[in-house]
Parts: sequence; structure tokens; C-alpha cells
Amino acid sequence: MDPRSPKDSQTELSSFMHPEDANSQGNVHGGSIMKLVDEAGALAAMRHSRRPCVTVAIDSMTFDAPMLVGDLVVLEACVTYVGRTSIEAMVTVYAEKILTGERMLTNTAFVVYVALDDQRRPTEVAPLLLVSEQEKRRFDQGRARQQERLARARRDKES
Ligand SMILES: CC(C)(COP(=O)(O)OP(=O)(O)OC[C@H]1O[C@@H](n2cnc3c(N)ncnc32)[C@H](O)[C@@H]1OP(=O)(O)O)[C@@H](O)C(=O)NCCC(=O)NCCS
Repeated sequence: MDPRSPKDSQTELSSFMHPEDANSQGNVHGGSIMKLVDEAGALAAMRHSRRPCVTVAIDSMTFDAPMLVGDLVVLEACVTYVGRTSIEAMVTVYAEKILTGERMLTNTAFVVYVALDDQRRPTEVAPLLLVSEQEKRRFDQGRARQQERLARARRDKES
């Protein structure tokens, strides 16, 4: 399989935040943002693999700035690491003030997907083409995160 660049699958998704996405103070629910994070990451994973992908792990998420009703949530997703059948996407989330264009970083999340074949079994994905120093650094960091996730999953199973 030919390697594919993270640029080939990078994805931007945006959605206007309505009152039904928020609590009574006007803060958008964390769960609404998490759903969009999962969706943006899945699109990048499916663009990389050109296969249906399911979410196998979502790393912990923190919300560093408020997202309010009337903000445009902008999500940028890019593939950072691939294993044999798994794909890690980094999703960066911004709150954009639609009238001024001001953008505030609210959080960054890492989500892991597994590509499936026609029988819904994990299937091999294209390697990641790493050219820039940033792409290589992100890949090494993604591999370390994945080893930690798998070790955690083993510990959880044992306990
Ligand atoms: C994802 C799923 C197909 C994996 O099945 P499985 O039998 O564990 O398959 P494998 O053991 O071959 O693992 C597949 C890949 O997932 C990775 N993986 C498995 N468990 C993981 C975990 N807890 N965290 C991160 N990666 C994990 C494996 O390392 C492997 O990656 P690799 O091929 O790159 O090395 C299966 O667990 C599943 O169907 N889960 C439910 C998915 C779902 O419904 N998600 C929510 C809606 S999209």
C-alpha cells in the first residue's frame, strides 16, 4: 500500500452553536463538542484509509476556554500516527466569534480509530508518509501514546 501524507486526509469541520447545544448559562455542553471531535477525527481517519472506521479510544479531554452559544466551533483534524489497522487523529478545537473572526483554542484531543474490511474486521491501512520534522515528531509521540493506551487497557483488564 502506498504511504499517504497527513495533508491528504486533513479535515476541517465547523458548526454553529445553537441554544439546544448549551446549558442555561450559554456554555456549550462538553458532550456536544466531544461528538464533533469524534466526527472530525473519524473523517480524517476514513480519508486516510478510505475504509469505514470505528472509534476504539478517546484520550482524556480538557476544556481550556468556554464555547458559547453563537460561537462557531471549528475543528481541525489530522492523522498523526498509524499502526497496522489503527489510526490516531489529533483534533484541535477553536471557538470562533463569527462577527470578528477572533479564534480561541479551546482544546486538543487525540482519538484512535480502527479501519474495517467488508466483514467489519480490522483491516490494514496505508502507512503515513512522514516528510517534515513536525510530522515525524508527532508520529513518535503518537506511537508512545498508543503504547501507553494499550498498556492501560491491559492493566484495566487484569484488575
Ligand atoms: C475496534 C474493534 C473493531 C477492535 O477489535 P479488536 O478485536 O480489539 O481488534 P484488534 O485486537 O486486532 O485491534 C485492532 C487495532 O486496535 C488497536 N486497539 C485495540 N484496543 C485498543 C485500545 N484500547 N486503545 C487503542 N487502540 C486499541 C490495536 O492496537 C490494533 O491496532 P494495530 O492493528 O494498529 O496494532 C472492536 O474493539 C470494536 O468493534 N469496538 C467497538 C467500536 C465502536 O463501536 N466504537 C464506537 C462507535 S464508532
